[in-house]
Amino acid sequence: MQLRHFLSLRDYNSADFFSILENAARVKRNRSALGAPLQDRHIALIFEKPSTRTRVSYEVGVKQLGGTPIVLSANEIQIARGESMADTARVLSRYVDGIMIRTFSHEKLTELAGFSSIPVINGLSDKYHPSQTLADFQTILEMGKHPDKIRIVYMGDGSSNVAHSLIFGAALAGSEIIIVSPKEYRPDPDVVEAARSMGARLKISADLKDAEESDVLYTDVWVSMGQEKEAEAKKTILMPYQLNEKIASKMNNGGILLHCLPAHKGEEITEAAFESSYSRVFDQAENRLHAQKALMHFLFS
Ligand code: CP
Ligand code: NVA
Repeated sequence: MQLRHFLSLRDYNSADFFSILENAARVKRNRSALGAPLQDRHIALIFEKPSTRTRVSYEVGVKQLGGTPIVLSANEIQIARGESMADTARVLSRYVDGIMIRTFSHEKLTELAGFSSIPVINGLSDKYHPSQTLADFQTILEMGKHPDKIRIVYMGDGSSNVAHSLIFGAALAGSEIIIVSPKEYRPDPDVVEAARSMGARLKISADLKDAEESDVLYTDVWVSMGQEKEAEAKKTILMPYQLNEKIASKMNNGGILLHCLPAHKGEEITEAAFESSYSRVFDQAENRLHAQKALMHFLFS
């Protein structure tokens, strides 16, 4: 069987993306629907940054698929003392059957995958968060609209890992996506170019008018993990791009609001918008479990 990793959705095609999402919906209806593809298998879950959703949903997901998760905080393994990703990958490949990692630079992740003979899953890097995007699109498809009729507006830090992966998700789903962010925090040009070459209907704008008439309004924290030093400057620049009730009231009928969580209420999103009837943030968080089980079924079956 060909070795597949899950580092970024830019390496995936629409057929695989929709097939994973279809299984995510099936396993949400019946938690055993995907059988036990991880029976007698061990999956290392490595964290170089904090996590609630990724940590718990992968651990539970591996167990529900019949496998054994091994949760490793990076500061208790030799990565913390400088052991390279290349050596870590070659050692773990001899013990376990898959690796999920949350790390800083995306290059470290590609180094790990390059030296690994088992599937590597991105549980968030500074550049991408594709595990999140699977749950995002599961939640979006639950609206019941045809994906190519959906307009997604992402407001705030357009350069975030979550925004970058959402752009590729939209490209694969055929949905329109508009990133509304200040010019200082636009998506990485490399992401924009790659997404457009995949056929993305992508617009980048600094104009809040472009955040109106959306079906999905999405935001992420302004200060991502590892960016704490830039916090004050970023917050000042991003303040006009807060997701609040005023902009939410301009959504199309039936529009929903998403956030990958954790949220900083009063910063990127107001408490009222977060708690509103059109907020789907906890369904979205739940879908992490189902979508990742479908992903692991895809990689390990
Ligand atoms: N959304 C997300 O990845 O949450 P955690 O940081 O809690 O894993
Ligand atoms: N952009 C955020 C996402 C957290 C799930 C971060 O990287 O901290």
